[in-house]
Amino acid sequence: MRFRVRHFTKAALVLGFGLACAASAAPGKGDAAKGAALAAQSCSSCHGPDGNSAVAAFPKLAGQQEQYLAREMKDFKEGRRESEVMAPFLVSLNDQDLADLAAFYAKQKPAAAKGGDAALIKAGKKLYLEGNSKSGVPSCDGCHEEDGTGSKKFPRVAGQHVDYILEQMRLYAAGKRKNGVKVMLTVAERLTEQETRAVSEYMASME
Ligand code: HEC
Ligand code: HEC
Repeated sequence: MRFRVRHFTKAALVLGFGLACAASAAPGKGDAAKGAALAAQSCSSCHGPDGNSAVAAFPKLAGQQEQYLAREMKDFKEGRRESEVMAPFLVSLNDQDLADLAAFYAKQKPAAAKGGDAALIKAGKKLYLEGNSKSGVPSCDGCHEEDGTGSKKFPRVAGQHVDYILEQMRLYAAGKRKNGVKVMLTVAERLTEQETRAVSEYMASME
């Protein structure tokens, strides 16, 4: 009985945290200057000094949506988004630190995107804007915006590394990234390998 009560409390706490997080993630609360100092100390070795990571397995954070960043960091820290690589760098940070980091990265200028395979990019653009009605894949622009910049909880995908995107699509399809919206699981499951590759190349090519 005690066990059950504790579980219920934990669920209530998690729900409470979710709501508090949504509220505290409102833009403007983080201090970008403090975030810059933290980033230089613990994050820049992988994500680059200004969030434009040079390594394709490490996501670019420059210009990413502030609200999205704050939530993903909190989810890594608390284990809802699993990553053995990321979590250790966040455990000692508090909510204000995370807000400061989110403010810093959101303000950085994304580096110019590199072009890829023209034929794949063309096919990927069509899929991004129209989806695939035959297999029930929605278009991506409705949530990630036509130019890929995202908004609030919808992440920027423009200019992201292809390798990072492919890995995330694999995690979604395998049910291993499940802290967010269900639609991403559906999208990842229904896209063919070729479509996934094409839409990833297109997102990476967007400025
Ligand atoms: C050792 C390399 C490394 C370090 C250091 C590191 N990260 Fe990461 N980061 C990663 C990897 C790898 C991922 C992708 C994890 C996954 O597979 O989901 C990631 C993902 C992220 C994401 C999710 C991005 C997205 O688009 O969803 C955020 C936000 C992030 N890191 C912030 C930070 C912050 C803030 C720090 C410093 C406190 C930091 N990282 C330190 C390697 C690193
Ligand atoms: C109904 C809204 C919605 C639609 C439609 C949608 N997405 Fe997403 N997507 C999200 C949200 C919200 C996230 C944030 C993470 C999460 O919830 O898991 C996300 C995350 C992502 C990510 C991971 C970004 C990162 O930095 O880790 C990629 C890649 C992505 N979406 C690609 C796509 C593609 C490609 C399509 C179209 C085929 C698409 N999305 C359609 C809402 C959507």
